[in-house]
Amino acid sequence: MFKTCVILGLACVLLQVAADDDFGPGTWKVHFIEKCDQHNHKFIFDIKQKKINRTHDGFNGNLILDEDFDEFFGVRIDICKHVDGGCKQYQVLSDDCFINFVNKYAEENAKVALTFAGVVPPEFPVHSGNYELNDYIFDYSELPSDGWYGYFCAKAFVLQGSEEVGCVEIHVEFIKIEEDEDD
Ligand SMILES: *[C@@H]1O[C@H](CO)[C@@H](O)[C@H](O)[C@H]1NC(C)=O
Repeated sequence: MFKTCVILGLACVLLQVAADDDFGPGTWKVHFIEKCDQHNHKFIFDIKQKKINRTHDGFNGNLILDEDFDEFFGVRIDICKHVDGGCKQYQVLSDDCFINFVNKYAEENAKVALTFAGVVPPEFPVHSGNYELNDYIFDYSELPSDGWYGYFCAKAFVLQGSEEVGCVEIHVEFIKIEEDEDD
């Protein structure tokens, strides 16, 4: 199915779940990825996207984990689609267990990302410590060539009980390939 994906498995999930009636061939573009602006989150991390060219982006980041990241963390992803007048709620996905969620949607990709981040072995639970993602280069052409058109914003929250402890925001667009496009 979806063989290849992005950062920490998350973007992957986002790309795969977006659903609309307007479906077909196109190209992916991650406009930007950043942490949400909540200051009370306890996960200290940073992520930076480095544009390389039309088909490739590089990602750098770091994460300080002050406790093991285990099966007691949950996840909630709020997805909205940009339409005239704002971003309209589109879909909410959640799971009491973040690890199950990632393993369900993006196990292989999560492994690759964990490997790049220096997690040994590249699997959950991730033990407390400092992690860095260096020049993880992602090729968008490896993503499924068919998708649902639109510009989506997804906020992925890491939950501990009902508390939001971390959040990353990603803006991604799937653009229709025009048939008469000549480049
Ligand atoms: C884009 O960048 C990647 C990674 O550096 C490279 O492998 C690829 O050939 C480049 N593609 C184009 C069209 O320049």
